[in-house]
Amino acid sequence: MKVTIIAGARPNFMKIAPIIHAIEAAKRNGNNISYRLVHTGQHYDQKLSGSFFDELNIPTPDVNLECGSGSHAQQTAQIMIKFEQELQENPCDYVLVVGDVNSTMACSIVAKKLHTQVIHVEAGLRSFDLSMPEEINRMVTDAITDIFFTTSELAGKNLEKAGIGADRIFFVGNTMIDTLIANLDKLRRPDCFDQQGLEQSNYWVMTLHRPANVDEAQKLLDLLNLISKNAGTKPIIFPVHPRTAKTLNSMGALPGNIILTDPLPYLEFMYLVHYAAAAITDSGGIQEETTYLGIPCITLRENTERPETVEIGTNILCGFDPELMEKAFEDLNSGKWKKGVIPDLWDGKAAERIVEVILACA
Ligand code: UD1
Repeated sequence: MKVTIIAGARPNFMKIAPIIHAIEAAKRNGNNISYRLVHTGQHYDQKLSGSFFDELNIPTPDVNLECGSGSHAQQTAQIMIKFEQELQENPCDYVLVVGDVNSTMACSIVAKKLHTQVIHVEAGLRSFDLSMPEEINRMVTDAITDIFFTTSELAGKNLEKAGIGADRIFFVGNTMIDTLIANLDKLRRPDCFDQQGLEQSNYWVMTLHRPANVDEAQKLLDLLNLISKNAGTKPIIFPVHPRTAKTLNSMGALPGNIILTDPLPYLEFMYLVHYAAAAITDSGGIQEETTYLGIPCITLRENTERPETVEIGTNILCGFDPELMEKAFEDLNSGKWKKGVIPDLWDGKAAERIVEVILACA
């Protein structure tokens, strides 16, 4: 059985790594399964792409479609055109896509139109906010997926409400958490830790890259001022995504306790999260990683497609509401943060379960 695995953007890489390793293990055990790894090139910088392959032991892709950046339509179209040719030249039984980036949607459409079965890992997540491109990507991908792997029971319910038969939905856990668990003892202290004199549990780590937070300079500056004021003397380490860098470059000086760094490799970034007092983010994955690690997480979004991180985890949503943010910072600074629990099946074995199901489907 041949599976073509798609990876395109940073959050995909930690999700595919354990699946590749589980397929390799199944193959070594005599199962008839092989994979071809296709990188769409949506992310292309070493810091957003190559470093993840090196650190997570992901083999060099069989092909890089080098689609690169562009508007949504340009990027999606480019990926579709190039992946159509790739799949025609290298047919397979299944195309496996992960997450919700443009590469996920583009490749699933191409696969389905070439009558190839689509597997979606991290299916069924819904923010119900169609102003986010990722929500459109999730809905379109799930509308044409054949086999759905989910990270939560709720994701399965979302799919069933959309008319998907329960026999095609498999609640397997979270491959991003598989990667975190597999690498917990390999986390590496980044240079900035000592350079900035950081102390365990006495700094915050922050990531912001959603267009709604970072595309308008004044809005971003207001946000950074508010966060900085509430941090007091605590340093805030802020690895900057290229989209955010564009806006920051057009702004004046930032508050002194905000320390900018380049995007960090996975093992260094997760070290920072692991030992932080809290994370402030608009990312999807970091909401999950902090819940697993039990680190307080303040999410600067009005909704989340990962509600379990709020309901049972350590995450709260503050939207863009300064009052909610002030209240969250107050709770954080006075040590009143809720204790979370780890969601079901976030146990490091999701990828093994995925490969078992794929083998059983053959
Ligand atoms: C994409 C995903 C988002 C994910 C994020 C993680 C979509 C719709 N969005 O957003 O869900 O959370 O990745 O990073 O798929 N750029 C570089 N170097 C690169 C890649 C991009 O400098 O290697 C710059 C380009 O100027 C580009 C911009 O970043 O225009 C945005 O990149 P893009 O892939 O379009 O979206 P992200 O904001 O990264």
